[in-house]
Order: sequence, then structure tokens, then C-alpha cells
Amino acid sequence: MRIGLLTGGGDCPGLNAVIRAVVRKGINSYGHEFVGFRYGWAGVLSAEAIELTNQSTSGILHRGGTILGTSRTNVFKEENGLERVQASLEKLRLDALIPIGGEDTLGVAGRLSEGGVAVVGVPKTIDNDLAGTDFTFGFQTAVQIATDAIDRLHTTAESHNRVIVVEVMGRHAGWIAAYSGLAGGADVVLVPERPFDIDEVCDRLRRRHAQGRNFSIVVVAEGATPKDGGLLSEFESTDAFGHVRLGGIAIQLEREIEARTGFEARMTILGHVQRGGTPLAYDRVLGSRFGVEAIDAVSEGDFGKMVALRGTEVIRVPLAEALAAPKLLDPKLFETAAVFFG
Ligand code: F6P
Repeated sequence: MRIGLLTGGGDCPGLNAVIRAVVRKGINSYGHEFVGFRYGWAGVLSAEAIELTNQSTSGILHRGGTILGTSRTNVFKEENGLERVQASLEKLRLDALIPIGGEDTLGVAGRLSEGGVAVVGVPKTIDNDLAGTDFTFGFQTAVQIATDAIDRLHTTAESHNRVIVVEVMGRHAGWIAAYSGLAGGADVVLVPERPFDIDEVCDRLRRRHAQGRNFSIVVVAEGATPKDGGLLSEFESTDAFGHVRLGGIAIQLEREIEARTGFEARMTILGHVQRGGTPLAYDRVLGSRFGVEAIDAVSEGDFGKMVALRGTEVIRVPLAEALAAPKLLDPKLFETAAVFFG
């Protein structure tokens, strides 16, 4: 078979592990040929692709980012998008596509699959908000980066008697915030799934300081919202999938907390640091397992599927099931993090 790979949406540690695994098993066990599209769906639309071989995909396992490049291109927002994708696949004589991405990239894959294109998706996102899989690769690395940052902020908060507000990514799900908050010993964690009351946040900080603690760490997800208001973002732009650009809620929290409590406050927005650099071993292993399962599925003609982690097993789920709704934070996990608040 001739198979096309692409990486779409935000980059994520572990993407190269998937590419390497698909190509390695595909060539060595099945004798397939591979091309990699440049910059996600943009490369598919313009038929811009490079040949992928064992040689060109060796030495990439430990590298962050994606050797193929990525973009947030929505095929269905482009003129004759579906026809152009089909024309590219014909031009490059491809039998199947393996898109590696989150809900947007795989959303396009799902619609192409309904239109008759042979696809098997691989779930990627640091946000961990894709249904159908317990974890996406990239999430654990992002959590570790955020946790390391919280550890560092702890020591400076303590030295200065400050409240430090740490803003993490995650879009409209609080997975990164809850995991890094729990691992980093945060005193308050604010997630999109639980709109917050600023008075309650300040009361909690006051109570903690009254008990003799003179510093606090507040972890806030970029998509967290106050009870009496909407999204607090510094930006107004939206991407090709209609998502508003998030970021900046920590600026307003810093200001409010300092004004209401009198405690000196500082904020840090971790931003894209969470997506960069070396993937953890966990994400290299998960990405490799996903890649191997994806090429097995393609080779068996088991299309319209997404590979997924359930418990300790890698399985295949229908793309439609994975895309039905985002996977929001498990309330039980939040309750566990809350045991350590204040
Ligand atoms: O989906 C991954 C993610 O990093 C989100 O957490 C964040 O909101 C978004 O992507 C940022 O996107 P961009 O890199 O396009 O600014």
C-alpha cells in the first residue's frame, strides 16, 4: 500500500514517535510506502509531501515538535476542499491516510471518512480532551513541564510571601490544571468545568494565610471562567475551526487577588513552553504503541477508526465515537486535587 501521514493542529511532544512507529512497522512488516504531508491538511490540499523512509524517520524519537510541520487548516473551509483532498490522494497514488491530531484534525478525518476516504486517526493533544481514549500522547509531558514550573514558582512565592497565579493550557478542559495542580501541591486550582467565584478564591487564600502560611499557588486553566462572566481572554481572534484564542486570565486574577486581599500577587503564563521540547518516556511509548496499532489497522483495511488507550490496552474505536463530544475533566480527579486546597 501507499499511505499518507500528516500532523495537524497544535504541535505536541510525541508526534515524531508516532511517525517513526508507523513507518518502521509499515515498511518492515508490510512492505508499504509512505509520504508525509507538510503542514497538516494544508499539505494535503496542495499535494505537498515528502517521501518517508526508515532512514528519514530515524533519530527523531526523542525530538519534540513534528518533522512534517503542522497547521490549523480546515479542509471544509477551503473551496472544493474535499475534491482537492481526493485529487491529491489520486495524484500521489495513496490508498490510505493516517492523520495524527486532536478534535479538529480528526474531525476533518471523520468527515473525509464519511466521504469514502480510507483513514485511521491517531489521537494527539496536550489538552487530553479527546473522547474515546483515556489519554492522548503529549499530555503527560505538558503536565510534567507545568509541574516543574510550579515547583520553581513555589520557592520564589515562599521567599517573597506572594500569591503566584500560574496559567496553564488545556483549552476548555481542566486536565492539565488538575494534574499539575495536584502534582505541584497547588492551593487553588481553577478549571473550566467549575466556574469560579473570585470571593471564594480570596476567602480561601485569606484562611490559608490566617493559618500562618504566607504564600499561595493558584493554578488556573486558560479556559476557566468566573461564575458571573464569560471567557476572560486577552485575544479576540478565532482559528479556522472557530476556536477563540485563549490566554491571559491570570493577568486579571493577579490584579483581583491583590486588590481584594492585599496580598502581593504575581502571575506567570506558561503558554507554549508546555508544548515544546523533549517528550517524556511515557509519551514516546504511547506514541509508538499508537503508531504500531494505526498501521496494523490500515493494513487490515479497518478504516474509519481511531487508535485509543483503554486502561492499559491500545484498541481501536470508531472515529465518530471519539468525536461525539470533548472529554472533560473527571470530577473525581478534581475532588482529589481539592483535598489539598487551602
Ligand atoms: O490544543 C492545544 C493548545 O495548546 C491549547 O491548549 C491552546 O489553547 C491552543 O492549543 C493554542 O493554540 P496556538 O498554538 O494555535 O496558539
